[in-house]
Amino acid sequence: MNIIVITGASSGLGREFAMQLDQCNFLIDEIWLIARRKERLEEVALLLSHPCRILPYDLTTNEGILGYENELKQTNPMIKMLINCSGFGFVGKFGQIALKEQASMIDLNCKALTQITYLSIPYMKSRSRIIQLASSASFMPQPGFAVYAASKSYVLSFARALSEELRKDNIFVTAVCPGPVRTEFFEHAEKYGKSFTFKKYTMVDTKQVVHKAIKNSLQGKTISVYGLPMNLFYFFSKIIPHKWLLTGLRMFH
Ligand SMILES: NC(=O)c1ccc[n+]([C@@H]2O[C@H](COP(=O)([O-])OP(=O)(O)OC[C@H]3O[C@@H](n4cnc5c(N)ncnc54)[C@H](OP(=O)(O)O)[C@@H]3O)[C@@H](O)[C@H]2O)c1
Repeated sequence: MNIIVITGASSGLGREFAMQLDQCNFLIDEIWLIARRKERLEEVALLLSHPCRILPYDLTTNEGILGYENELKQTNPMIKMLINCSGFGFVGKFGQIALKEQASMIDLNCKALTQITYLSIPYMKSRSRIIQLASSASFMPQPGFAVYAASKSYVLSFARALSEELRKDNIFVTAVCPGPVRTEFFEHAEKYGKSFTFKKYTMVDTKQVVHKAIKNSLQGKTISVYGLPMNLFYFFSKIIPHKWLLTGLRMFH
């Protein structure tokens, strides 16, 4: 059985990946949708033409990870594509965000993404694909978004290394690095502090980001960055010393 696995499928980018991949001409038997909110996953499933498997797991718990591992063992599928979208972030000064929430960002964005990837690879074959949701926040340290940006740097670094390791098996890994995207993300992110105003002006819709991510994944690209502002940011973050960029950012704090 050929499947696509999407974490964070109950909203935002994960939901959009489900919608767009459902329309692609891949030979897929089932789409597996993972997130905590079961009813939201069921709503997404109703919109798709492929049969779906609803897996309402909290991926920060052992039960969630074990649930996925058991589902794989029982079904023994061939994973054509894994898209790791589950993730969240809190804007705010490091010491002002509750320790529990700082830790849970790392648990979901880094630990769970690593666990899901690790469990999925044995079920992949030549031409399978992995899409990891990083962020433009991964390009350099971000005061006021410190742990989130660091967690996304982990995702980017991990994806790039894994892409090299799996190249010989013809399995392609793409890190998707969007700037601000119109999703539920910012409803939770601004619990402790406000994002920079300029983020609102560079905000884009899920459709274009996901369309480009799928295209770049099929092209075997390691990094997918949508839009001119984020491509410029990516370019300058590679050529300008981060110390200088961080000094420049001080005027916004
Ligand atoms: N929106 C942006 O501006 C932006 C920019 C760059 C990168 N990203 C990244 O893109 C990814 C998707 O974000 P989004 O913008 O689509 O945000 P979103 O709409 O808030 O979606 C986040 C998804 O993660 C799931 N999730 C949260 N906690 C979970 C848990 N403990 N276990 C399993 N699933 C969990 C949520 O589902 P449930 O609540 O149902 O569990 C939801 O489906 C994230 O990794 C985010 O960091 C977003």
